[in-house]
Amino acid sequence: MNKKRKKVCRVKELPHDFMDSVIGYEDLKKLFARSLLSPKQTHILLSGPPASAKSIILLECSRLKGAEYILGYKTTKAGLVSLLFERKPWYLLIDEIEKMPKETLEVLLGLMDPGIVKNVTYYGVEEIQLQTNVYAACNSFDNLAPELLSRFHFKIEVPQYSRDKFLLVSARVLTMLEGVPKELALYIAEQVSVDSLDVRQAIGIARLARTKDDVDELIALQRKYMPWSRKLF
Ligand SMILES: Nc1ncnc2c1ncn2[C@@H]1O[C@H](COP(=O)(O)OP(=O)(O)OP(=O)(O)O)[C@@H](O)[C@H]1O
Ligand SMILES: [Mg+2]
Repeated sequence: MNKKRKKVCRVKELPHDFMDSVIGYEDLKKLFARSLLSPKQTHILLSGPPASAKSIILLECSRLKGAEYILGYKTTKAGLVSLLFERKPWYLLIDEIEKMPKETLEVLLGLMDPGIVKNVTYYGVEEIQLQTNVYAACNSFDNLAPELLSRFHFKIEVPQYSRDKFLLVSARVLTMLEGVPKELALYIAEQVSVDSLDVRQAIGIARLARTKDDVDELIALQRKYMPWSRKLF
């Protein structure tokens, strides 16, 4: 049976605080807003180093009506087919897509272009046509098949934060999301940036430190036991 969706009714407007938890990336936020509001099907793939805000961008999109957020490595072919048949999402957010099993990825190819999903069972073949937008994240494009990459209209490679960007983002994450006083947040960001440009490292220190002395003690401990922390990465 060929059940076509006749009317396109994606979300008409975005919440007033949409993407507020994401610091910077104003051009990407604009791209997502355009794609989310467009009646036409578009797909966006984000790639980048750890802690570069890929997941929080997807999670912001997952707040919208008609959105489904899934993790690549946890999604079976049958699970994805049943989600698409039952929920018919307008937006499918796939985190860590590079870990998605190959047979599940085959379902995705049909969904993204030409927009067809098939369910083959003992009782017969069911088919639906969807106009789902797929937004996905990965750490590298390298392990993705060319036919999958081709279906993403926008392939965005997010770069590693520069030191200045890291200081700005970390300080704001620590004040906004972790409730750390501004002066201490700036101090943590500065100290962490000597060894690492990973925002998660700053978050870890912030969660255990109440004073600058605590920060110094925790960083000294990291340096003592973790040789890799001496390298910028
Ligand atoms: N630009 C940013 N705005 C807000 N938070 C950020 C930003 N960059 C990093 N973070 C913070 O860093 C942490 C990791 O972010 P996120 O999970 O989105 O990273 P990721 O790019 O998905 O990383 P991974 O590749 O390891 O999955 C979160 O706590 C997030 O709040
Ligand atoms: Mg992530």
